[in-house]
Amino acid sequence: MSKPVILTGLRANNDLHLGNYLGALLPIVEMQKKHAGEFQINLFVPDLHSFTTPIDHSKLYEQSLNNIRLFIAAGLNIKDENTFVYRQSFIPAHSELTVILNSFTYIGELKRMTQFKEKGEGQQSSVSAGLFDYPVLMAADILLYGAKYVPVGADQTQHVELARDIAERFNNKFGDIFILPEAEKQQIAFTESVDRLRIRDLLHPEKKMSKSDETGKGVIFLNDSPEVATKKIMSATTDSFGEIKYDRKERPGISNLMDILAALTNTPLDSIKQQYEGSTTYGDFKADVAKSVANFLTTFQANLARVDDGQTLYKITQSEKQMNDVANQTLLKVQKVVGLRV
Ligand code: ADP
Ligand code: TRP
Repeated sequence: MSKPVILTGLRANNDLHLGNYLGALLPIVEMQKKHAGEFQINLFVPDLHSFTTPIDHSKLYEQSLNNIRLFIAAGLNIKDENTFVYRQSFIPAHSELTVILNSFTYIGELKRMTQFKEKGEGQQSSVSAGLFDYPVLMAADILLYGAKYVPVGADQTQHVELARDIAERFNNKFGDIFILPEAEKQQIAFTESVDRLRIRDLLHPEKKMSKSDETGKGVIFLNDSPEVATKKIMSATTDSFGEIKYDRKERPGISNLMDILAALTNTPLDSIKQQYEGSTTYGDFKADVAKSVANFLTTFQANLARVDDGQTLYKITQSEKQMNDVANQTLLKVQKVVGLRV
């Protein structure tokens, strides 16, 4: 196991949507296609990170498994022996390393994390210590496996940098225990080789499509029926310019739909622009987008129904066994240098 490690996690708090698919699931699947053999790929469900925002606990276990099924439906090859898929809480070293690293992390650092500031703002009394400590658990996720590349969305890069800082501080005190993830610049250079789209909310295209949207009307969920999705696309907010033109700033609604059409039909954006720009019939264009979304959902949902649960669970348990060994080795090194073991 001497290959450099690419590691990433996708939380299973809620039903995933088209933004998650195009911005997270698909890039990871493409990364596997591109780098398998050259890298080890660790793809895990950070289930312990789930309680930091309100969730339905009765669904979490199933949702964690379903997250992995979704990756497989999106094309992840679980037969690849350099790819490991696992659940965070099935590898107890994540929790133990977090407790240790907590004493090597400053409160000031955690208070500066944008995600904490945003999600915690204005509700200081009801903010859990779990949300505050979220980045330390994330650091443990990364450092246990010596991950070099950690592809994440822009909102998470600060946490990867913090993992690096904690590791560096720890190494300065105790010697070369942790392998540091690459710095932000190298991370970006690495992940930029894979296109990461930002999909907008259909009704409020000034903000991103997000599962935290309460109505769900501007969000295409991966389990929406093609009919429901078609209605959502046909009611998408566009603009009153009267002519189709791609302009993410001034015309985010129509541009978002063009992005979706390009991505789902595997067509370069330029060809989509050529085809539709200048047209005054928004309805026809929307119908084409709706058709591409409905086709995508039909195929994706059929793939999902075909995912073999026995095979999937086998892969997960095998990966969890192997990754427990790797994680425990790192943990033991840490326990030794901090004086817990000899
Ligand atoms: P949400 O906003 O729906 O809660 P998360 O913040 O949990 O989504 O993001 C999970 C992953 O999906 C991240 O890698 C994030 O970058 C990606 N992602 C989320 N929303 C979008 C979007 N609208 N477009 C592209 N990628 C997205
Ligand atoms: N915090 C990440 C998110 O919300 C998920 C995550 C948890 C993660 N641990 C990680 C991502 C480790 C990469 C590496 O999207």
